[in-house]
Amino acid sequence: MEYLFETADRNYEDFASGRVLYNARGTTAFPVRLASEIAQLCIGVLESRGASGPYSVYDPCCGGAYLLTVIGLLHGGRMNRIYASDSNPDVLGIAGKNLSLLTSEGLGGRRAELNKLIELYGKLSHRDAVASADRLGGLLAGSSIESVETFAADITRPGQVQELCRDLNLVITDLPYGDIASWTGDSADPVNDLFELAYERMEPSRSVLAIIADKSRKLKHDKFKRLQSARIGKRVFGIFEPIR
Ligand SMILES: C[S@@+](CC[C@H](N)C(=O)[O-])C[C@H]1O[C@@H](n2cnc3c(N)ncnc32)[C@H](O)[C@@H]1O
Repeated sequence: MEYLFETADRNYEDFASGRVLYNARGTTAFPVRLASEIAQLCIGVLESRGASGPYSVYDPCCGGAYLLTVIGLLHGGRMNRIYASDSNPDVLGIAGKNLSLLTSEGLGGRRAELNKLIELYGKLSHRDAVASADRLGGLLAGSSIESVETFAADITRPGQVQELCRDLNLVITDLPYGDIASWTGDSADPVNDLFELAYERMEPSRSVLAIIADKSRKLKHDKFKRLQSARIGKRVFGIFEPIR
């Protein structure tokens, strides 16, 4: 895949899982460069439709919210409301902690936690993490994020998704990959359920859906037009807009 925005493979160590961002057990960190590229592709589509933002953003399979936190840190100046949900309540604690890093209070709390660890163990890795937290704090200066909501919801049961999670501009998610996380619920077609949920909750004319999945997954739905898709390593992603 050719990168249009993240053209240089920068050093993303400040975002490393377990450094400042928290690591959710059993999950792998989403590649930062790819996350940023997809977010910017989506923002480009929204701008071309006349929506300049700030945007409301939802990840309905958020896991530890690593993906959402990374794009919130890098592109928080284009966002105001962030929603995150997952059917597994066990990951929501980490999701909430990661998303708290999108506020200066939350990041300050993490910095204090890391300083405590330096006092206790004097490790270089904790000092490096504090330096990363300071640089991430610099990114927050331009953020327009006003609210973050995290809740439990199974996307195959749309009634579980909070009512205020509506008029979304960007729905972005990476689907369970099987070996890392599996679909919960007994739906025969959870990907279809996800498209249906997104269709119902997205702002009608100025919204995009970005889905990242295992490369074997066919991503399509008759209520959505596919604007872009690409394969990258073991993943595939598609960017869609609702047909009204
Ligand atoms: C690949 S992980 C997402 C990782 C996440 N993007 C991150 O950055 O931490 C997929 C997630 O989908 C969740 N999931 C599985 N079935 C679901 C369902 N029916 N409704 C909502 N979430 C579901 C899993 O619990 C898992 O956390």
